[in-house]
Amino acid sequence: MAAYRPADRMVLPPVNAEKYQIVCHYCAVGCGYHVYKWPEGKAGGLLPDQNALGVDYTKQIAPLSGDWIAPAHHTVVTERDGQRYHIAIVPDKECVVNKGHHSARGGTLGSSLYRPDGPTHTRLTHPLVYRSTKQSPTTWDDAIDLTARVIYGSILRDGNDSIFMRVFDHGGGGGGFENNWAVGKFFFNAVQTINCGIHNRPAYNSEVHASRDMGVPEWNYAYVDAELTDTIVLWGTNSYEAQTNFYLVHMLPNLQGSTVKGKEAARPGEQVGPGRMIIIDPRRTSTVVVSEQAGGKERVLHLQLKPGTDIALANAIARVVYEREWHDKDFVANRVEAETVQPFLEQSLQIGKSLDEVLAEAENITGLSRAQIEQAASWIAETKSDGSRPRAIFLYEKGVIWGLKNYQNVGSIVNLALLTGNFGKPGTGCGRLGGHQEGYVRPAYRGPRPAPYIDDLLSQGQGNVFYVAGCNPAITTLNAQRMRETLQTRGKLVRDALDANFAADNATKAQAILEATRQGGLFIIVQDIYLTATAQYAHVVFPAAAWGESPITSINGERRLRLDEKFMDPPGIAEPDWKIFGMLAQRIKALAQADGNTDIVQRFSGFEWTTAEEVFLEGGASFADGVKASTERYKGVDYNFLKAAGNNGIQTPVTIVNGKPQGRVRYFENGEPFYTESGKAKMLPTPWPGFPAIVQEQINKYPYFLTNGRNNNWQTLYNDMNIPFFAERTPISFIEISPEDAKKEALQAGDLVRLFNDYGETTAYTVISTSVKPGMIFMLFAHPNTTANSLTTPYVDPEVIIPYYKGSAVGLQRIGRLADLDARLTYQPNNFEKVV
Ligand code: F3S
Repeated sequence: MAAYRPADRMVLPPVNAEKYQIVCHYCAVGCGYHVYKWPEGKAGGLLPDQNALGVDYTKQIAPLSGDWIAPAHHTVVTERDGQRYHIAIVPDKECVVNKGHHSARGGTLGSSLYRPDGPTHTRLTHPLVYRSTKQSPTTWDDAIDLTARVIYGSILRDGNDSIFMRVFDHGGGGGGFENNWAVGKFFFNAVQTINCGIHNRPAYNSEVHASRDMGVPEWNYAYVDAELTDTIVLWGTNSYEAQTNFYLVHMLPNLQGSTVKGKEAARPGEQVGPGRMIIIDPRRTSTVVVSEQAGGKERVLHLQLKPGTDIALANAIARVVYEREWHDKDFVANRVEAETVQPFLEQSLQIGKSLDEVLAEAENITGLSRAQIEQAASWIAETKSDGSRPRAIFLYEKGVIWGLKNYQNVGSIVNLALLTGNFGKPGTGCGRLGGHQEGYVRPAYRGPRPAPYIDDLLSQGQGNVFYVAGCNPAITTLNAQRMRETLQTRGKLVRDALDANFAADNATKAQAILEATRQGGLFIIVQDIYLTATAQYAHVVFPAAAWGESPITSINGERRLRLDEKFMDPPGIAEPDWKIFGMLAQRIKALAQADGNTDIVQRFSGFEWTTAEEVFLEGGASFADGVKASTERYKGVDYNFLKAAGNNGIQTPVTIVNGKPQGRVRYFENGEPFYTESGKAKMLPTPWPGFPAIVQEQINKYPYFLTNGRNNNWQTLYNDMNIPFFAERTPISFIEISPEDAKKEALQAGDLVRLFNDYGETTAYTVISTSVKPGMIFMLFAHPNTTANSLTTPYVDPEVIIPYYKGSAVGLQRIGRLADLDARLTYQPNNFEKVV
């Protein structure tokens, strides 16, 4: 690939350019943007009354003013009628989420759009079916017919659960309430399978079951709470890189003291000042370094614990709080179920042991000092000199969610927030940060809890059909090498059956496929926007529309519901996911009608939608009146309302007051009950469990503990590999290794290494970094070319079937160097601390 050279001049949108509202489709922060669209060949002028932004471009534009259109914001698209348009996607200064700022990802939204004459030409444009040794383009009718026949035949012969699914549940990207409702209606109401998984997970579950079981919806805070709090606790999250504008626009100003006036207004009579930040992470991330530099080291406490020991740390901090009587006694007495407190005190805080014993144990497990644990407890809960309680907001993400023992990891942090009464007031809250926005609305899942672990079942030969949409398990699932072997070997049996029947019609091919599934074959359907690694194994590929190509709605991390308007056509004949499921359901219904199978006809009815808004409203109506408001509830809102609400939208759950939709800033204010039958929160016993045997086995066998995470691109790089700015920066995955270990292994920055353990093998280039301590290696999470997930074990938290992605162990071998990478990469670490 030629080296990326950004354009050195831009075409400005004219005054009459079309303008749309849109939310960045990447992370959960959900920054607002405006899309400008105007015909190729037309351009605005430099004077304010000559361009759509109303900016005077005859003068130098101030840095970070939000008035700049960068080359990465812009592209030229070709519509289905052949007309070409300029598109510029620029941050919305009026949006309270980002206030005109963009992240490295959001700054390339324009570059991520489909253009047939640019790097994103690799988008899927037509359905593909496997015909005589390769995937071939075909019509929707043909691809839908073959797929419908196989799904219908499989249900009739082997039952509903013979259909396995692994499908998105996100809000941004191509998800949204519309497509999620269609997915749920198709698989839960029509197919009625229990063998389901959501994008990164091998089972149908929540990543925050513990919090919900405790009565605490995970998105209970607002971004402004990070401005109003005394202490921001970032647990297992590298927010500067992964939730950039939440961090830069709302957290950092608090550390720097610029939000004090707002705090005084929101918390009259309390002693307030600049905030502090506790960062709990086994890596010295860019978030730590930036926070220290921008806020001052005295305002930042980095607890660089041993990986996997979060539960022990949370319990120890809580024990100090309890011992010092810094806990919120009134809150615990009035808002927490009394019978859940004692088991928490006994098992989490170990009140049967002395504080010295507990802290000595915690020091040993976490690798932190007693002084650090006590300082954290003090910053979170020590009463101020004016007698007021400090306020803290607890924000956790994948380091916790994908850490050792998801259920207790999350529960131990919610325990700490409950113990310290940090709910229902400005500057408080406890919840996940979120990877992506949400658009979750579905009929009820029919399976048990815990749900079946479908990766295991697939590898054991179960299931006839595997339907994958908007995710890429060949790369992103745990123990991904096993998944690829399953897709390869089981998929081949179906390919062989199709090769043997190349002259047959779809009815005969479907029979041949079903026969192959008796022998262990797996019919693989992939619905996506690119030919992903998983799609390469597929027998049928459905091309989906992406963000901006069909209207979608979603909520961000503070539950802000917005509408992403359609501003361009999908590539080729690609269609929105809801429409694809609609076509498939209608075809299965027709097959069943021909057979006189009234049960299947009834199940696959009601998919005749014609617009995205119809699907949105149908999903919204499923929120029953009178039922306690769920985080997502939006009943009563339509597209017109959201268009008028603009990029600030409305914060769900929505209730109708005097006929008008009304949102809420945060949960649990004014005595609002917790989401349990009693209305009181529950505490959870969270003893530290130690490492599971199969992970411990790897740790015993291999010298380096392996963890993984994101950096300043999008974690799966699904668009990024088609955006030169990103693709050239990280053409393959990298590892971070400490200077001490690099010396021991005789590694130079940029050396290509092979990593391996009992579960797989992969390659990466070397970055020597102080972010990790000796004995630990960090690797990028889900690079499509060299995935860290080949090295994760199949271990999941058995209570909730959530993978332990963050903990494995590996051996390492130097391979050599790649000259083309040497020519353009610096191999410098992301945390800005230069070591070589
Ligand atoms: Fe996009 Fe804002 Fe996140 S620009 S990637 S939503 S921080």
